[in-house]
Amino acid sequence: MTRTIVVSGGGTGIGKAVAARFAADGDRVVIVGRRADVLEKAAREIGATALAADLSDPADVERVRADLAERFGSIDVLVNNAGGNVERHGEQGDVAQRWTGNFRANVLTAVLPTEALRDLLNPSGRVLFVTSIAAFRGSSGTSYGPMKAALHPYAFDLAATLGPRGITVNVVAPGLIEDTEFFGGTLGDERRAMLVAQTHTGRAGTPQDVAETVHWLASPGSGHVTAQIVQVNGGAERGR
Ligand SMILES: NC(=O)c1ccc[n+]([C@@H]2O[C@H](COP(=O)([O-])OP(=O)(O)OC[C@H]3O[C@@H](n4cnc5c(N)ncnc54)[C@H](OP(=O)(O)O)[C@@H]3O)[C@@H](O)[C@H]2O)c1
Repeated sequence: MTRTIVVSGGGTGIGKAVAARFAADGDRVVIVGRRADVLEKAAREIGATALAADLSDPADVERVRADLAERFGSIDVLVNNAGGNVERHGEQGDVAQRWTGNFRANVLTAVLPTEALRDLLNPSGRVLFVTSIAAFRGSSGTSYGPMKAALHPYAFDLAATLGPRGITVNVVAPGLIEDTEFFGGTLGDERRAMLVAQTHTGRAGTPQDVAETVHWLASPGSGHVTAQIVQVNGGAERGR
């Protein structure tokens, strides 16, 4: 059965790998992000549909909802992957501005699409959130980890609400994942080595590691797995 999959932040990194994984199955995949050129390029590569929008903006999200409703009528899987640490990317400002920036980038980009699209989900639908190991181990004093952590109880409540419709809601928590725009060239060799040393697998993660886990959680066979956080970080969440 061909499903309709929506992946936020699907133009780069983890989201692109997730989108490609579903597209490889023959699913209809819609990728959403702010940069239209980046999205169009990725969409051509993986055989997806690009929809440019800032998912922290309620008006943009409403436009996405209307577009999806008109094109497809319903959706099967929503992958809330968009996000990042705006403090890492050098966003300036006082404490309130930095925390608000990460709130918009990580909480609103997940909550607004979820609230807007939840009524479009088919029975046996799936909602996925991409959190971070930072929600468990901190993010060097930035507001990124705390903002990711805010998604967890939201996902648990949503799982209870949508469960009777046969819809599952789960969260994946990556550790260091390379080949994405997340670090924007700011990850030094020393810090990289330290993060790899925290894993039990002795390696950095790949976007494919996350994509395979998301794909499994979205599969029909995972229908009794809900309200869970799946760690995709080589055991680093346990610490060394
Ligand atoms: N890489 C890691 O080590 C790592 C570890 C743990 C968790 N994560 C999480 O994994 C997710 C994917 O990150 P990544 O590593 O693949 O980095 P990435 O390449 O920077 O991907 C983030 C994506 O989110 C999109 N995005 C950001 N803000 C958005 C907004 N307001 N509206 C719509 N789209 C938005 C970006 O596209 P535009 O800029 O074009 O909007 C981009 O495609 C993020 O939630 C990140 O926090 C990453």
